[in-house]
Amino acid sequence: FLPRPEADEQGGILAKDIHGKLIPGSQILAAPAHSRALVAGLSGEPTYLTVTEKGELHPWGIVDNCTHLGCTFPWNANENQFQCPCHGSLYDAEGRVLRGPAPLPLRLTHVKIEGDYIRLSPWTETDPRTGKMPWWV
Ligand code: FES
Repeated sequence: FLPRPEADEQGGILAKDIHGKLIPGSQILAAPAHSRALVAGLSGEPTYLTVTEKGELHPWGIVDNCTHLGCTFPWNANENQFQCPCHGSLYDAEGRVLRGPAPLPLRLTHVKIEGDYIRLSPWTETDPRTGKMPWWV
């Protein structure tokens, strides 16, 4: 038995919980449509995954790291927003800034089911929210 490498050649990892345990995709997908789940992301930062209307994983994860000064924040399902408690920035459900002082949209990662696990990998191409290259590359 050889332990899996921590990251693949593209910098991707399998999603883990806060205890470092791999998270089965079936566990996340058992939640209702539009649910959000936090997993440990590419650099260990919390990353939100979303269950779509069709009961699939949304193909991008949203990094829970405010683009103002880096606070983490909760998802507010009632208001359909990410709300940063540090200085009041608001982001929409896809991580676009609704209200500053945050200057930039939240970072994205690719999300893909692989077997019964979830692979996260760096998002390096056009940001579908802005139509531009991502600011974090
Ligand atoms: Fe989020 Fe300042 S760190 S608004």
